[in-house]
Amino acid sequence: MSGFSPEWLALREPADLAARNRQVLTACGRAFEDQDTVRVCDVGAGTGASVRALVDLLPRRQFWTLVDSDETNLSAAFDQLARWGTDVKAYDGGLAMRKGERELFVRTHACDVAATPACWPKGTDLVTASALFDLTSARWLDAFVALLSTQKVALLSMLTFDGLITAEPAHPLDGAVAEAFCSHQQRDKGFGPAAGPRAAEVLEVSLENAGYEIETGESPWAIDRGASALLYATLAGIASAVQETQTVPPEDIEQWLRASVINTRLLTIGHRDVFARPTKT
Ligand SMILES: C[S@@+](CC[C@H](N)C(=O)[O-])C[C@H]1O[C@@H](n2cnc3c(N)ncnc32)[C@H](O)[C@@H]1O
Repeated sequence: MSGFSPEWLALREPADLAARNRQVLTACGRAFEDQDTVRVCDVGAGTGASVRALVDLLPRRQFWTLVDSDETNLSAAFDQLARWGTDVKAYDGGLAMRKGERELFVRTHACDVAATPACWPKGTDLVTASALFDLTSARWLDAFVALLSTQKVALLSMLTFDGLITAEPAHPLDGAVAEAFCSHQQRDKGFGPAAGPRAAEVLEVSLENAGYEIETGESPWAIDRGASALLYATLAGIASAVQETQTVPPEDIEQWLRASVINTRLLTIGHRDVFARPTKT
């Protein structure tokens, strides 16, 4: 299962849904509760998980633009949303649908946001991103926030990896593996040296400096053996990243992975969420 494939995104979607921070989501919902219509742009949208996660939080009429550089993911997003919604119709190059009481209009936009951070359409009220910002660099995050703030656009950022990896029961190599994994997370993912585990902190400071009011909270994955496919894929993904760093002997990584697959009852991966509201001046 590779990088950001639709299969990997489908495997992680239930854990993401359970992890999103309720307080942060509530703050976002409140900011738009007086509106009947909202225009949202989801950056690094993958297969559209943010639409499915946020539909009940946001106003009755929702115009979504899903931005991603991966056209396979964007086309999977249309397929998945068309199966998830009701009364699905073609609309303005995208899809119109209903979901419960909500009316949604969804379009996709293929774009490399590393090169074009201001990827949202004119009139956007809210930019969202889920599991994206740890791939980006501190410099890119600052530029992104500066562009958002000049247009007074709100931001909901979810599931930014914060460097925490703990397993129960612990294994003697957990510390070395976590350290090597975090250093791998700081490699360039197309945005310059990645902020990786520091991304949430960089983003929050940048938003505050730009005058946003922010609500932050933790959104860790708690993966137990009830989600064994996600547990094994996550452990294997960590081992493969650590292998690439060449900082832990291959036989130690193999031993860690074998023992972790057999013994881990609970794997916790830390994330942070933030809702940022532009101040009215
Ligand atoms: C970890 S996935 C998260 C997907 C989705 N937000 C979710 O929560 O399921 C990261 C997404 O960011 C997209 N991405 C990575 N680099 C990008 C770039 N430079 N421009 C646009 N999208 C990018 C990937 O294609 C992938 O769909």
